[in-house]
Amino acid sequence: MREKITAGNWKMNLSWEEANNLANQLAKQPKNVEELIVVFSPNIYLKSLIEAYGDHLIIGAQNGYSEDSGAFTGEVSFKQLRELEVKHVLIGHSERRDLFHETDLLLKKKVSKAVELGFTIYFCCGEHLEERDADLHFSVIEKQLNNSLFHLSEAQFKQVVIAYEPVWAIGTGKTASTEQAEEMHAFIRSLLQKKYSEKVAVSTSILYGGSCKASNAQDLFSQPNIDGGLIGGASLQCADFSAIIEAQKIA
Ligand code: PGA
Repeated sequence: MREKITAGNWKMNLSWEEANNLANQLAKQPKNVEELIVVFSPNIYLKSLIEAYGDHLIIGAQNGYSEDSGAFTGEVSFKQLRELEVKHVLIGHSERRDLFHETDLLLKKKVSKAVELGFTIYFCCGEHLEERDADLHFSVIEKQLNNSLFHLSEAQFKQVVIAYEPVWAIGTGKTASTEQAEEMHAFIRSLLQKKYSEKVAVSTSILYGGSCKASNAQDLFSQPNIDGGLIGGASLQCADFSAIIEAQKIA
């Protein structure tokens, strides 16, 4: 059965001291065995955080590069991340797509490489506001999944978590309504069923992201097709993130 997941995306935030304190506090919290807690940290903190807290907290990377090595200044390969014992990675976040011009083709290569190396990938998809206003949101999501994710085999899909993050809701304070989020999650699950099988559809976790916070998390997480959240801003303070983790327990 699919897992409940609460994941924090720290983005390019937190000093080392702040990151270490936050991970330390999170690692000490009592765990709910049915809920996975993941934090996606800046690369430079990964090694230290995994060494210190890896037994209590899943520490993941926010990005990786598909080639193993070579002349790719500034990039870090999935292969290098594996050497640090990183096992979870975000792929295709809208900030990577929009600010760093990552294309569907590049994301497809990243997906293949990360899965080949044994990562659990959190594949992000989401439409822009103009696309939703033009009623194109379902086709945009279908295209993103078709172009970069659906080349994986059914067996490989065990390593996939999908995060639906409407771009207009990220960091804007504007959350998708529970109806809008649930509708899209149900649509994604129907695509999984069509493309793969009922088994893949029911066993793949689909997270919601975009201004998810303590005040709306429980409503979102109690929807039948929403298995948790990918949290940006509200994952940077222990109290806020802990309240979201709690919301998942009671949802
Ligand atoms: P937000 O970011 O929670 O700050 O909207 C979510 C994300 O970008 O993953």
